[in-house]
Amino acid sequence: MLRLINARLGASGEVGRIASITIEDGLVREIRWGESADTTPSDVDLRGCWLFPGLFDLHTHLRDFEESAKETIHTAAGAAAHGGYTSICAMPNTQPPIDTPERLEHLLLKAEKEPIHIYAIGALTQGRAGRRLTEMGLMQAKGAIAFSDDGDGVADAACMYHALQYARQLGSVIIAHEEDRGLSGQAPLAEGEVAYRLGMLGQPEVAETAMLARDLALVAQTGARLHVAHLSTATSVAMIRAAKRAGLPVTAEVTPHHLLLTEDACAGYAALAKVNPPLRTEADRAALWEGLRDGTIDAVATDHAPHTAAEKARGFIDAPFGAVGLETAFPLLFTYGVATGLLPLARLLDALTVAPARCLGLPFPGVQPGAPADLFLYDPKIESEVDPSTFLSRATNTPFAGWRCQGQVIATLCGGRMVYCQKDHAIAEALAQHLGEAGVSTARKAW
Ligand code: DOR
Repeated sequence: MLRLINARLGASGEVGRIASITIEDGLVREIRWGESADTTPSDVDLRGCWLFPGLFDLHTHLRDFEESAKETIHTAAGAAAHGGYTSICAMPNTQPPIDTPERLEHLLLKAEKEPIHIYAIGALTQGRAGRRLTEMGLMQAKGAIAFSDDGDGVADAACMYHALQYARQLGSVIIAHEEDRGLSGQAPLAEGEVAYRLGMLGQPEVAETAMLARDLALVAQTGARLHVAHLSTATSVAMIRAAKRAGLPVTAEVTPHHLLLTEDACAGYAALAKVNPPLRTEADRAALWEGLRDGTIDAVATDHAPHTAAEKARGFIDAPFGAVGLETAFPLLFTYGVATGLLPLARLLDALTVAPARCLGLPFPGVQPGAPADLFLYDPKIESEVDPSTFLSRATNTPFAGWRCQGQVIATLCGGRMVYCQKDHAIAEALAQHLGEAGVSTARKAW
């Protein structure tokens, strides 16, 4: 048994009250409100730290099987734990793609060995080629929680229509990457000021909104659930808002990089800021925050997209799209969203826990008696800095290196096991020691 005393609890519904939490057999057994005296050997005093539910990322690129130079399931799980995440959802655009029940099963067998929860999203079309649907029913039976061709838009409207019809029958959800390739030209940045200055063609916003409009029409026709990945434009936010008002079963996510950066980050042909959809204008960024605040945008998803340093060094035009995000999402959003007053902490927590699970139709037990002890500890007193050399991800492609953050994840527990421990932090070490003594494996063994 373990009792975490004097923690500031940040679980949905209760944000900021001091509590003591008893953990036994991997579960939260009891929550007691108020200060406690450190009286028994099973107590660890968390005074000064926040205790949050483990975060849920609904959009992670793992790269196993054939791109393990970028990331593996194991390194992604380590990165997740380091970022406070205890659940991640694997996107199927791997090499080879997760487009058969056998591959999905293989992925989940590997994932089961990791100490955090890893869910699998199945590819929507065979080979992600956008033509023939995968065996969605069989993949769902093997554990696919949703279907997506993320990384590419589904160009053929009939294919998307049939996918939505099928998903509706299965009671599943489709995650849409809204990009009309003809309009986007896969340009490395957004159409606009910066592209003009750099002398480059950019992706117009209609590359996103044209396909989004089509998919909303298909949802209205089929009644199927659609989750829209990585919104990037103010117009998309307005379209989702209107769709929700009209009662369509649509949800949406935004990434930390679209919330925190604009096209200006691409000035100087910065390949680390090359993401898809591209970073856009300050007005778009403001609309994304507003959408997140008012719930139009349900969730924050990392779109953790690891690439090697060599690939990103190929230059702005040839580098692949993407940025890693699992290890920086929470500290950045806590600092530049909550501490600046842009977003209440309760809404941020909801957008990183309950809401993403709900978008995929999954329960999120949170912190309550009987729930698994999936938690992380955050020390808001530490002045930290995004330092890619500390990442547990195999990749370091972040546009946020050097950004100063208020606070740091110091420990993560999943099912009561310590899956990340910040070395040299007295409270994290005390917790590790306690769990070690109780015969529970700690992060230092896992990573
Ligand atoms: O920036 C991105 N990278 N956007 C995507 O849609 C795909 C992802 C990747 O897989 O690298």
